Amino acid sequence: MIQDKIQELMDLRNEARLGGGEKRIDAQHKKGKYTARERIDMLLDPGSFEEFDMFVSHRCIDFGLQGQDYLSDGVVTGYGTIDGRMVYVFSQDFTVFGGSLSEMYAMKICKIMDKAMKVGCPVIGINDSGGARIQEGVKSLGGYAEIFSRNILASGVVPQISAIFGPCAGGAVYSPALTDFTIMSAESSYMFVTGPKVVKTVTGETVDEEDLGGAFVHSTKSGVAHFVAEGEEEGILLIRKLLSYLPQNNLEEAAVFNCTDPIDRLDDILNEIIPENPNKPYDMKDVINTVADYNEFLEVQENYAPNIITGFARFNGMSVGIVANQPNYLAGVLDINSSRKAARFVRFCDAFNIPIVTFVDVPGFLPGTAQEYGGIILHGAKLLFAYGEATVPKITVITRKAYGGAYDVMGSKHLRGDINYAWPTAEIAVMGPRGAIEILHQKEAQQITDEKERVKFMNQKEEEYRNKFATPYVAAKYGFLDDVIEPRNTRFRVIRALQSLATKKDTNPPKKHSNIPL
Ligand code: HXC
Repeated sequence: MIQDKIQELMDLRNEARLGGGEKRIDAQHKKGKYTARERIDMLLDPGSFEEFDMFVSHRCIDFGLQGQDYLSDGVVTGYGTIDGRMVYVFSQDFTVFGGSLSEMYAMKICKIMDKAMKVGCPVIGINDSGGARIQEGVKSLGGYAEIFSRNILASGVVPQISAIFGPCAGGAVYSPALTDFTIMSAESSYMFVTGPKVVKTVTGETVDEEDLGGAFVHSTKSGVAHFVAEGEEEGILLIRKLLSYLPQNNLEEAAVFNCTDPIDRLDDILNEIIPENPNKPYDMKDVINTVADYNEFLEVQENYAPNIITGFARFNGMSVGIVANQPNYLAGVLDINSSRKAARFVRFCDAFNIPIVTFVDVPGFLPGTAQEYGGIILHGAKLLFAYGEATVPKITVITRKAYGGAYDVMGSKHLRGDINYAWPTAEIAVMGPRGAIEILHQKEAQQITDEKERVKFMNQKEEEYRNKFATPYVAAKYGFLDDVIEPRNTRFRVIRALQSLATKKDTNPPKKHSNIPL
């Protein structure tokens, strides 16, 4: 008798595992996509997945749904491990009603989110869905909002990662948007609030899904996606790699890896990296890759606002968040998008106890009406706010320019920077020499009628200014820098600084929350 009951259990499990059935699974594979369960199998350590709510089905009796039951109801949920560390996961099953979200489906997601919060584990959501289950109406909308509510409460408590491996449209986009990192597969995913048809009706624009909300758009123009993966396998590997840099929750610190890369290796290449001509660019990623453990750097939002670089690296096995101006793109200027990008990254690191290492080479904020009308004042203030509020260890290395307000913003001593270094090539001043001289000596120059003499006069003044201000030593004199370091010694000095700050404790005044200029 018990055998019959066990057989019934096995049959029901097999039924649930088939989702919407063989035909729809084949259709999913034909589109080059994996199924919800295949994705979970790829993501988690082999054999570690424990599934919840396999036998859940919807309760809708409208629009012909009565009797159309699929066990699991379109989403696979549970927990497992990644590199031995616990994570909670949900994976939307497109083979069941197009992965659309019902009341019970939302309940399943909320259940694992609640558990993840209680035990302090990351939540990973794999999205592949036609949005709200149309037949369920407001129950589905309510279900979304229940998930949003949990995304919000979990923010800054446990890391939340979203993978988009199919459609993600309408209000459904807001759950990934509320999470910390979004990964899109290059070929098969899209995200938009309203699809091409609605866009055509409302604005008259003709645009296809890819151009409206494909991975390229969101990783270059909107900044919605933090990573693009060539395929789902790459996306899954990225999630696993990203998690390796993160702690399980806001009360823990990231794992420290064993490091055989010598901490005191001298990188002679760095002594030569700054060009003689201060207006010539170089690649700040060369600096980052050179100093990090094993020359490894996981860049976040690589193709969005590339004038600032954000990402994760390790120093002597310790996980750090890196923020760096990129002189190779727009001279590393701070503008609206780069300020927003870096501010969110700094806040993520601060929320999860990840020290921030900042490399500075910034000519200032981008001038112009486009920036001013777009609110560069507020967006720049976000980055300023994020650095000023962060209490994690903050180490800053100025490699070349640190001009104007951008000097203050980029992890300066005045914003509670812990250890501030500069290379001998650093130029720290209110503005660049040419701009400064044009303001200070314009009237005198105008009185010189001979063109050649005037140019000579201005060049001489520029040279004087450069010698006096465009060095690290004025800032060092006032203690705004802790030391001027030899570039090739940067790795060692950063590691020593991180070691010295390992037990750092700092707090902000008690408050309900701050009012960051959104
Ligand atoms: C119920 C749905 C569904 C939905 C798809 N299906 N979307 N069922 N509710 N939202 C079903 C289809 O009927 C079909 O069932 C199966 O899923 C696969 O769908 P296809 O259309 O055959 O697949 P495909 O051609 O790949 O197109 C996928 C799609 C399309 C682009 C996602 O299905 C689509 O446009 N769906 C509607 C999207 C939408 O408007 N959703 C509501 C958004 S508003 P069978 O039985 O044939 O396999 C929203 C508000 C949320 O989400 C607000 C939260 C705050």
